Amino acid sequence: MAKTLGIGITGGIAAYKIAELVSKLKQDGIDVVVMMTEGATKFVSPLTFRTLSGREVITDLWQESNEWKVQHIGIAEEIDLLVIAPATANFIAKMAHGIADDLLSTVVVANTAPVLVVPAMNTNMYNNPIVQDNIKKLAGYGYHFMKPDSGNLACGTSGKGRLPEIDHIYKEIKRMLYPKKDLEGKRVMVNAGTTCENIDPVRFICNRSTGKMGYCIAEEAFARGADVILVSGNSPLDSIPGVQFIPVWSAEEMCEVMLEYQPDCDIIIGAAAVGDFRVANIATQKLKKAENYEENKILLELVGTPDILKELGKKKRDHQIMVGFAAETENLIENARKKLESKNLDFIVANDVTVEGAGFASDTNIVTFIFRNGDITSLPKMSKEEVAAAILNQVVELM
Ligand code: C5P
Repeated sequence: MAKTLGIGITGGIAAYKIAELVSKLKQDGIDVVVMMTEGATKFVSPLTFRTLSGREVITDLWQESNEWKVQHIGIAEEIDLLVIAPATANFIAKMAHGIADDLLSTVVVANTAPVLVVPAMNTNMYNNPIVQDNIKKLAGYGYHFMKPDSGNLACGTSGKGRLPEIDHIYKEIKRMLYPKKDLEGKRVMVNAGTTCENIDPVRFICNRSTGKMGYCIAEEAFARGADVILVSGNSPLDSIPGVQFIPVWSAEEMCEVMLEYQPDCDIIIGAAAVGDFRVANIATQKLKKAENYEENKILLELVGTPDILKELGKKKRDHQIMVGFAAETENLIENARKKLESKNLDFIVANDVTVEGAGFASDTNIVTFIFRNGDITSLPKMSKEEVAAAILNQVVELM
């Protein structure tokens, strides 16, 4: 059955970009109901969206309609997904407080369909703790947020706050409108982030991983119906609503937790950047420096940490699927193949971290899947969300 999508446009300069989005969705046969706040109509004429969507654009709570039903309730009942793009700081604040004082905010309150919010605003506004608190609050209620892109902003500055690429929003809408539930009934454990090894009570060794790849996998697996455990080392990212979150610190701690949960898991994905070394003797007191910095010298003895996937690989059950990552700087395929074997994985996701757009602290990745039977699949540069979906598609195929 054809899907109906509600798109709420609020008063930001990025409003004009939504015209392309409406046009693309309409070409897919999706019925698009466009709603605009008064601010949005100052940027783009409703006529543009009426022409592209082939439907009346709704802007006014008190607009007369031919339907007998109260208009905002009728729209809320009709839509399968509500998208707010661009979402201004003001509109996000209204949503977070249940304010219903115009047509769009009233539809938001009456709506029971999933909601996708795409913020776009000045960097300082986006980073404002009040705005961030509102986003967190809404995310806690199950509202799904896309992160803004970084780049030049209409206000003349540069930073985080740009509307994500239309193609990216379009794919997210399609994913939410036609959700795959191919992991229903499966328990997935993912690890992510960097492990940390203490030197003394205040210092530690870690690495550049932000955890983004693993968090994307956990979120995608949850969206596809899995019961997900995210075992996370240090990461600046927020926990994911609906996903069981187990924060850990060191490689040994991460290993212990994963071994404990392993027997109940159908799928295990190792996306964490696990440190290979720990400090042999952690100082119980903060290490003191010398009076003269030139005399400062500390030798740290480092010893190995457990290879978590290798340990899990030894205990792998029949039908349990295990996937690992191989971040390489040379001989990508050969090195990744060795890891696939030694860790007893079903496939490994290899990436050359020297290539721009691949690897740590990047929003994109360029990966190659290497399988036990020798097959190799190379994927183009993709967002980490897309890589997560591709990995899980592969897992489903193996199941
Ligand atoms: O051996 P290498 O560190 O390159 O292997 C990378 C893969 O192994 C990743 O999936 C990573 O999460 C995992 N790993 C691990 N325990 C370690 C080191 C890496 O599970 N100590």
